[in-house]
Amino acid sequence: MYKKNEPIAMLTAHDFPSAYVADSAGMDMVLVGDSLAMVALGMNDTNAVTLDDMVLHCRSVTRAVRSAFVVGDLPMGSYEINPQQAVQSSIRLVKEAHVQAVKLEGGVDFASTIKAVTTAGIPVVAHIGLTPQRQNALGGFRAQGKTVAGALKLLEDAYAVQEAGAFMVVLEAIPAEIAAIITKKLRIPTIGIGAGDGCSGQVLVQIDMTGNFPSGRHLPKFVKKYANVWEESKRGIEQYREEVKNRSYPAKEHTYAIDEEHVAQFQRLVDEQSSKNSQE
Ligand code: KIV
Repeated sequence: MYKKNEPIAMLTAHDFPSAYVADSAGMDMVLVGDSLAMVALGMNDTNAVTLDDMVLHCRSVTRAVRSAFVVGDLPMGSYEINPQQAVQSSIRLVKEAHVQAVKLEGGVDFASTIKAVTTAGIPVVAHIGLTPQRQNALGGFRAQGKTVAGALKLLEDAYAVQEAGAFMVVLEAIPAEIAAIITKKLRIPTIGIGAGDGCSGQVLVQIDMTGNFPSGRHLPKFVKKYANVWEESKRGIEQYREEVKNRSYPAKEHTYAIDEEHVAQFQRLVDEQSSKNSQE
């Protein structure tokens, strides 16, 4: 696709149904991102999610996916200590959860880590720009590369991960013009999230883009809401509640048929038993 200049469509999935729908809708790539922590597990940021959590969720995603290429995120704490730790964690995601590649956050500083993981035969997607696992060091969820020095640093990071063997790089929250220039300079695809249309492909968080959250939640400015899953689910659940309360659910078509004769006989037996019990 990259060689044919065909945009690559990537979406996150965090469990079996979200992976099933993403794959059925024709996604080229599915990312089991550590955004899982915030959008699916209710954590405050991505840092609390563990490698065990990622293995569980990646496994449920790969069970559902038939055609998309599945990438699993290495969560914070599973790859930073040294390249050996990164290789061990990546092997877990491949062997236990059957992902086809891993993603890790970092540029120049993680080149040797990327090299070690790719040398072990595991494809790596790098992630530069806004790297949510380092939000404390970055001063929060802020766009990156907005100054000349910042943009040059991003280019340096992009070259470093490419040279280290990453086959793709996610560019997050970067001005579109800078992302487009970086994309042109690389010989591996870039996947943008908040990085404009000059990237080789795009990724979004499924729960955000399908609108599976109540109104009033803060959304990054790059998110486009393509559906209103929350409203549709809520409408259905409210109707279910109403029908349980007014006994219109379950209706006859939701129950199992039985011969009337069997019911009558059963009723007779129950009645006989109760009258026997009351005589004793
Ligand atoms: O964790 C995630 O979902 C991600 C994407 C936002 C790129 O890293």
